[in-house]
Formats: sequence, structure tokens, C-alpha cells
Amino acid sequence: MKSKIWITSFLVSIVILGGCSKNNSDSDNNMEHSNMTQEDMQMEDGTEGDMENSHMSHNDPLTLNDSTGENDLIIPPVLEHEDDEGIVYNIEAQEGSTQFFDGYQTETYGYNGSFLGPVIRVNRGQTVKIRTSNKLSDETTFHWHGLELPGEADGGPHQNLKSGESRIIEFKVDQEASTLWFHPHPEGKTSEQVYKGLAGLIYIDDENSGNLGLPSDYGVNDIPLIIQDKKFDDQKQLNYQEAKNEDGTIGDALLINGTLNPKLTVNNEKVRLRILNGSNARNYTFKLSTGNSFVQIATDGGFLNKPVTLNEIKLTPSERAEIIVDFSGYDSSSDVALINEDETILLPFAINNQLIDSGNIPESLNDFAVTDEERNLPVSKKLELFGMGNMVTINGKQFDMERIDFTQKQGVTEIWEIYNKPDMMGGMIHPFHIHGTQFKIISIDGIEPPENEQGWKDTVAIQPGEKIKLAVKFKNKGIYMFHCHVLEHEDNGMMGQVKVE
Ligand code: C2O
Ligand code: CU
Repeated sequence: MKSKIWITSFLVSIVILGGCSKNNSDSDNNMEHSNMTQEDMQMEDGTEGDMENSHMSHNDPLTLNDSTGENDLIIPPVLEHEDDEGIVYNIEAQEGSTQFFDGYQTETYGYNGSFLGPVIRVNRGQTVKIRTSNKLSDETTFHWHGLELPGEADGGPHQNLKSGESRIIEFKVDQEASTLWFHPHPEGKTSEQVYKGLAGLIYIDDENSGNLGLPSDYGVNDIPLIIQDKKFDDQKQLNYQEAKNEDGTIGDALLINGTLNPKLTVNNEKVRLRILNGSNARNYTFKLSTGNSFVQIATDGGFLNKPVTLNEIKLTPSERAEIIVDFSGYDSSSDVALINEDETILLPFAINNQLIDSGNIPESLNDFAVTDEERNLPVSKKLELFGMGNMVTINGKQFDMERIDFTQKQGVTEIWEIYNKPDMMGGMIHPFHIHGTQFKIISIDGIEPPENEQGWKDTVAIQPGEKIKLAVKFKNKGIYMFHCHVLEHEDNGMMGQVKVE
């Protein structure tokens, strides 16, 4: 019902947007249009929209339910590889059904299973082959988000696989230890396929990560958390067309690693959480219910130089962070959970009274640096993000597979300046992502990024009105996408192509 209102007209949708965003906290609300005043809300003829009614008809879709903690968090399996002809992994996109609710089978998509996928774990320096197979009835692609690999292996919309087709890609892992992920990228269909369950993690290990002494017992004190919100219909189905919102589909049901109402049992020790915001559009601000701090050790593409102590961390769609939470001060009677900014309980923790000495987090983790040379480079590419709904653009244009928007030389660093141009409503956050590279944030509105963003990134959250400078270098050649990672914005054409030669 709600979605029908959305498509009636641009102006009506503006009013609805305003109506629901005004009562919601900044980061929770993907549809936020900041700095809104009553004036902004007026129609062009000077009349005011009927905000009360439109708000009521919106059925409060933005509120996420608390996790009751009744289900143990699912830990995705680590994918085994064949060793006969080098390192070969098999990844199959499949249709299946998954039980989220007692007595209901939900039709879903998954990799090598019915929902989400396994963790592909590789070492830096390895040559890896992945046999990708499309067992869906629809076309798809296999995109490796955050991997620095040749354009032809990147799995953007050009590398379409029809139903039944398969393809082997091969690449050398040539970047540092990090938590990356993979998901489909077929033109115009990414949001629906991710929403139905296609996503998985990629871990890269290297010498440094092996020597730091960080918590690394997979599934015990080194825990992946794929955070997604969904909307189940009356039949407990993920009906994308019904849930769809052109400005970013959100839901009231939280899934972590595909677990509804998850709980995680931990020992009295330091636990590393590798968090991926795998949602179509929702932003999260993660905190501990106790108000205690935690430390962030890694960004999208690698370790920070040193651990950064935080009370909260905000992740927009597709961003990752590795954080370490020290549970040694708690016991089984402690009430502690990972919560969202508005206090929604995302993941309650159960504490095993088993004190384990997990040592200290090293003071020095990496040698990431922005050089003076990079800081002084002139801007050579300018991008302007603008619009909302299905009228989103980059530099006034919508995605065209036949059009190359930029070219860049392999191995040459360029400064990209990205401006999120506000609209009459204020605008919204666009998480801006570039394929095939890990970049550095040089500045945000002329100012150095916060300490916890001074590391390798492949997605950066850009607030309305903000101008961000990135130092971007591609190690490989090919055609790469850049786009907003609100998946509906991507599908609606807020995407362009850079050709690296
Ligand atoms: Cu995670 Cu172009 O995508
Ligand atoms: Cu966007």
C-alpha cells in the first residue's frame, strides 16, 4: 500500500518523505533530508503538504524491531577450495527457501545455499580461481566489492551471466588483509537480488594480520556480522516489489548473517566483530548498550594505523568496520548488546563466565599514509551527485552502459572530488563506492577525515552539501563502475563508468 503512494507523483513523495523523516533520528533514517524547514516543505504554489495524513499512511516503516535474542547467531561457513589446479572456489547463485519464522518457508536467494553465502578466505599473493555459476532463473553477475582486480573479472553489469551459465575468473590477490564482500550487479536488478539474499564475505589474510595477535578464532572471537533489514509480508515472504522504495528499500526486520532475532554467546575476552552493512539502504550507528567504548581496528580495505577508541560507529550501505569489544569485565548476569543509535537492540550478547586472557591490542597495526604529494595534487575528476528517487544522477546523467564517463591511467593517482548537491528538501546521504580500488579520503569539506576513516576505503558516506576529495589509484586495467551504494539509487542510474588504460 505504501509503495503505491510512492509512485503517485514526485511532489507527493516529497511530502511523504518529509512527513516520516522529521521524527526519526539522523542516522537511522535512510531517507533523511536534513536541514528541512517548514518552508522547504511547502509546495511550489505556496501551499503546505498534508503531513499528518501522509505520515499516518506511511505505517512507520522506518522503525527496526528489537532482537529478542531467541536464536543463536548463524556463523557462515568458510568455503573450502579444490586444490587440484591451483586454488579453485565454486560459487553458485541459487534459489531456495529459508525458514526465518516457525512454520513458514520464505523464498530466498543464496550462494551455495538458500540465503547469503560462505566466506571466501584468501591469502595475499595467492592466485585464485573462482568458478561462478548462475543457477537462478534470472540473469546475474558476481561482483567482488573491494577487491582490486582486472575490470573483466570485476563482475560489473558488463559481465552478465544468463541463467544456467558459468564462468571462471582468475586473479592474484594483491592487497592487504581486509574484510570485503561479494554480491550481484546486473543492470537494474542489483537491489532485488541482494534483497533476496545474495551476499557473502571475502577475507584477505596477510603476514601482518597473522602477526598482530588479534582475536582470530573464526566464529569464537572473530565474528562476521552481515547486517541487513528486510520487510516480510503477511506470508513471511520477501516481496521486493511490494517493499520497494525508489529512495532505498528498508524494512522493520533485522537479520544478522540471515538470523532473525539473533544472540551471540561470547567468552570473557576480547572479541573482534567484522561488521558489514549489507542493507539495501539503511544506515546504522552501532553502540554498546552499556555505553562503554570499543576500538575500531580496520576500515573497508585494511587496518587502521592504530586502534581508535569510539563510543559509536556509523556505517552506510556496503561500508565495513572491524571493531574489538572487550567482554572481560562482564559476567553472565551482564546485560549487554549491540544497539543502534535509537537504542534498538540489534544483537544481545550472552556471556560465558570463562575468563580468557586475550592479550592486548597492538598499538601499531599498519602503515597507511596520505603523502604530501597526494595532498597537493590538483582535482582532476569532478562528480556531482544529485536528485532523489528514480531521478538520481551523477553530473546530470544517468547510467548508460554504452557511455564511458571518465578515463584514468593504470597506476596513476588522481584526485576525485565528489559533491553531494542538496536539493529543495535538503538532500540525503549517498554512500559513494568505486569498483576495483581502495582509495584514501584526502579531505571532507577541506578538513582531514576523522581518525577512524584514515585508512583504505572503497565506500565513503557523503552528507548533503559535502564535498569530498579522494586519492584514487587503480592497480589494474578495465572498466569499473562508480556509484551510490543505496542499491535503488544504483539501479536508478546513479552510476557511471571509468575506463582504466
Ligand atoms: Cu558493492 Cu558496485 O558495488
Ligand atoms: Cu544515493
